Amino acid sequence: MSFHHKIEKNSLLMVLGILLVISVGGAVEIAPLFYLENTIEKVKGMRPYTPLELKGRDIYIREGCYNCHSQMIRPLRDEVERYGPYSLAAESMYDHPFQWGSKRTGPDLARVGGRYSDEWHVAHMIEPRAVVPESIMPGYPFLATTRLRPGEIVAHLEANRMVGVPYDDGMITNAAADLIAQSEPDGDGVDGLQARYPGAQARDFDGDPEILSEMDALVAYLQMLGTLVRFDVYDAEANER
Ligand code: HEC
Repeated sequence: MSFHHKIEKNSLLMVLGILLVISVGGAVEIAPLFYLENTIEKVKGMRPYTPLELKGRDIYIREGCYNCHSQMIRPLRDEVERYGPYSLAAESMYDHPFQWGSKRTGPDLARVGGRYSDEWHVAHMIEPRAVVPESIMPGYPFLATTRLRPGEIVAHLEANRMVGVPYDDGMITNAAADLIAQSEPDGDGVDGLQARYPGAQARDFDGDPEILSEMDALVAYLQMLGTLVRFDVYDAEANER
């Protein structure tokens, strides 16, 4: 008791005591992290973005879609019931920068892939109120008429490789060809694309064969969001562990 009184009455001793307690607590929490190789769970199905999807992602960032849309489903019951399985860290490991966001004027988009048809997305992007009358989302009609510039795609992949995305040499040399193959499925580049990016969907996303547009890229990106991880397989494996 008398020892405790001493500490309580002497501010210097109190400060030293506090520092001691905090550093022990901090060390216990932080030190183990240095010995973990990876804090991201291993999940099957994750692959880097295809060049076309990467372009779409670029447009998503350029247009500021993240100001109204998040891409992270939190592990809360209402979110999971509305949007699907909660987001895993692995699902954004190739995102530079990540698009988790914190503002939801519109719904979360982490698993919007496959929820609507391409036609729906195109109509919605051109004029949201054509399909959702009460929508307050702005329209982006120019995306359908703006030609996609594939020019800088190689540099874009290389920049992503520098920050750790596993793009190999084949992916980089074929970047421009893969970009075109994904939106022109009649071409013979689709096999190569799908060998490099398993499960990549290839079709004319904007429904207009005349033009490779920014709409093609954005819809390709939206349609793959949240579709890479097979959750039936993931859950089964988690149960085995
Ligand atoms: C000012 C806020 C705002 C901005 C900016 C915005 N959205 Fe939206 N978005 C909304 C709202 C509100 C809705 C819900 C109503 C609707 O479906 O239009 C929505 C709905 C959507 C949906 C349908 C989601 C679902 O699950 O029903 C998609 C896809 C979408 N937005 C994509 C985009 C993309 C891509 C951009 C950028 C090019 C964008 N939004 C920019 C507000 C916004």
